[in-house]
Amino acid sequence: MNDKRLRIGIIGAGRIGRVHAETLAFRLPEAEIASVADVNRAAATALAKRCGIPRVAESAEEIIGDKGIDAVLICSPTGTHAELIAQAAEAGKHIFCEKPIAFSLQAIDAALAAVNRAGVQLQIGFNRRFDSNFARVRKAVTSGEIGAPLLMHITSRDPAPPPIEYIRASGGIFLDMTIHDFDMARFLIGDEVEEVYTTAGARVDEAIGEAGDLDTAVVLLRFRNGVIGTIDNCRKAPYGYDQRVEILGSEGKIATENRYPNEAVVSTGKSVYNDLPLNFFMDRYTESFALELAAFTTCVREGKPTPVCGIDGRIPVAMALAARRSYDEHRPVKLTEVEA
Ligand SMILES: NC(=O)c1ccc[n+]([C@@H]2O[C@H](COP(=O)([O-])OP(=O)(O)OC[C@H]3O[C@@H](n4cnc5c(N)ncnc54)[C@H](O)[C@@H]3O)[C@@H](O)[C@H]2O)c1
Repeated sequence: MNDKRLRIGIIGAGRIGRVHAETLAFRLPEAEIASVADVNRAAATALAKRCGIPRVAESAEEIIGDKGIDAVLICSPTGTHAELIAQAAEAGKHIFCEKPIAFSLQAIDAALAAVNRAGVQLQIGFNRRFDSNFARVRKAVTSGEIGAPLLMHITSRDPAPPPIEYIRASGGIFLDMTIHDFDMARFLIGDEVEEVYTTAGARVDEAIGEAGDLDTAVVLLRFRNGVIGTIDNCRKAPYGYDQRVEILGSEGKIATENRYPNEAVVSTGKSVYNDLPLNFFMDRYTESFALELAAFTTCVREGKPTPVCGIDGRIPVAMALAARRSYDEHRPVKLTEVEA
């Protein structure tokens, strides 16, 4: 066990960069932020001020080359991840990278090869595994509490679409949004998906369709062990962030509900109701974001394997590519078909 605090450099001071910086600055005494970089220097400067970060670097490369930094957090847009992973690995830095690793399996394989050569640790930001609701569902599967899983349903709807500029750089709904659900499916069932079938449309916002993307989708999953799953996605749910799962097993079922800012129930002569669920990922998954960084910090300091490794980053991308191909070709697609 290494007593020294883990010295971290953050690359990207946007939405998720801010979430992680706040965890490191205010909730995780085993780590400290040494430096932050963003191509938008004002964003990095504002984050440094907010979180007491001592240095604003000129670039990601400056952070990667900084000998005083043990690990980097890659929180820049997806298109930058694979190259930054390779550079950071070559510089001997441990790496926490946001999802997804890249848009193509070839780019992922090159990044993972660099990580393997360097022998550094890599964790991918599939934070939902650390959410206590979903962890409880996983426990019900591993313990046999609900028997053998038969059916799995994941509902994952955002409150509102991100800006169209974000959509254009995101790689599309399957690589950007459904990617969390592909990871969740593997995590909960503990087996791999062999075939997917997608039906989808751009039903929320015409601009998303014009950008070549989709905003509403159902992806049907068939696992190797026979489990059948569905993922139900929409970029807009007027009542807030809708994040639920249900698994039916041979001996029972387990289901999770949304999380709420309060548990008050209002009863009147007309209806009984409660307030809307927590609005979006920053509020709904705060606990899981903190726990994933705590796990990363512990694994690096203690030299243990990270809980969400490179292959866990690669397989959901293969699932996303297969889901898009299924939509394009109107047919079930096996994951083996998207392998290079
Ligand atoms: N795990 C999650 O729940 C979650 C949530 C949101 C986003 N993400 C992922 O995080 C990544 C960033 O998403 P976001 O929503 O924070 O985007 P964002 O656009 O809010 O922030 C990205 C930031 O990176 C900066 N940037 C761009 N290129 C850079 C470079 N080369 N070096 C340094 N900074 C650079 C931008 O100026 C911007 O400030 C995406 O890959 C996304 O998929 C994950």
